[in-house]
Amino acid sequence: MADQLISTAEHDKLPGSYVRPETQRPRLHEVVTDADIPVVDLASSDGAAVVAQIGAACRSHGFFQVLNHGIPVELMLAVIEVAQDFFRLPAEEKAKLYSDDTAKKIRLSTSFNVRKETVHNWRDYLRLHCHPLEQYVSDWPANPPSFREIMSTYCSEVRELGFRLYAAISESLGLEEDYIKKVLGEQEQHMAVNFYPKCPAPDLTYGLPAHTDPNALTILLMDQQVAGLQVLKEGRWIAVNPLPNALVINIGDQLQALSNAKYKSVWHRAVVNSDRSRMSVASFLCPCNDVLIGPAAKLISEDSPAVYRDYTYAEYYNKFWSRNLDQEHCLELFRT
Ligand code: OGA
Ligand code: NI
Repeated sequence: MADQLISTAEHDKLPGSYVRPETQRPRLHEVVTDADIPVVDLASSDGAAVVAQIGAACRSHGFFQVLNHGIPVELMLAVIEVAQDFFRLPAEEKAKLYSDDTAKKIRLSTSFNVRKETVHNWRDYLRLHCHPLEQYVSDWPANPPSFREIMSTYCSEVRELGFRLYAAISESLGLEEDYIKKVLGEQEQHMAVNFYPKCPAPDLTYGLPAHTDPNALTILLMDQQVAGLQVLKEGRWIAVNPLPNALVINIGDQLQALSNAKYKSVWHRAVVNSDRSRMSVASFLCPCNDVLIGPAAKLISEDSPAVYRDYTYAEYYNKFWSRNLDQEHCLELFRT
């Protein structure tokens, strides 16, 4: 129901349905704030070094920030601004787009999967399919009036960046440069525009609880002013401090499978705070439904047998949405 949206009202008290049991709370005082994830400058003239740095980051953290990625900073700012304006629209306007049917390709929703989950998350989000653009843009929000133009420009740019990263990631695995792009076929592209309102009790709840991304590659545009993304590393949560004009890249489950578990789709979460609301815009590149995914033949050997069986992305995606977010890694269900 649209009245479950949390961006439509002020909140003095965290409703009970958002309160995590004591053992599942974020324990914010234990978060590591001075470690951060690797940073890669994509404009470096040493291409081999960039590939090596990306490979190392995919192995060690599954996450990295990229600088000089080619997406204009004015566009990034415009995206965040128009996304903020969207969530400020009147409740009636937003209610028109609301749905909790996870099969719907364009929808405004809240939390993660309100039909399945027992405790809610302090997030509203707009989910948009983005490729091919001309197929979907006419169903995107018509308000704010500049929304479609800004977001579609951003989607095209993100797609290009994603393909550049695929080439570097392929190379870093010792595969042909076009391996990932070819194997994953005509990529789908989705976007989650996440809005995390100010929260009256940030230590009792999550914006998004620990999860891995089910797609291939995620490109995250973060609010420059407010941190909230945290990445699990050796049992500890590391806060990601947004660098100016950077984007955050992470390996999704499909690249973990394709790399035969050499690269990790790492647990991450979004926490909230009581001072400021926070925006993030996650772009997901993912295979088409009928694409068969499995470890690359070149990465399978006697010493390194296939960790996962082959499966279609449709099978994977259905499994992902049929579960709750903070369970075991979905890929565990696809082991050989
Ligand atoms: C996601 C995600 C993190 C954030 O949308 O999958 O992990 O900081 N978002 O919003
Ligand atoms: Ni995620």
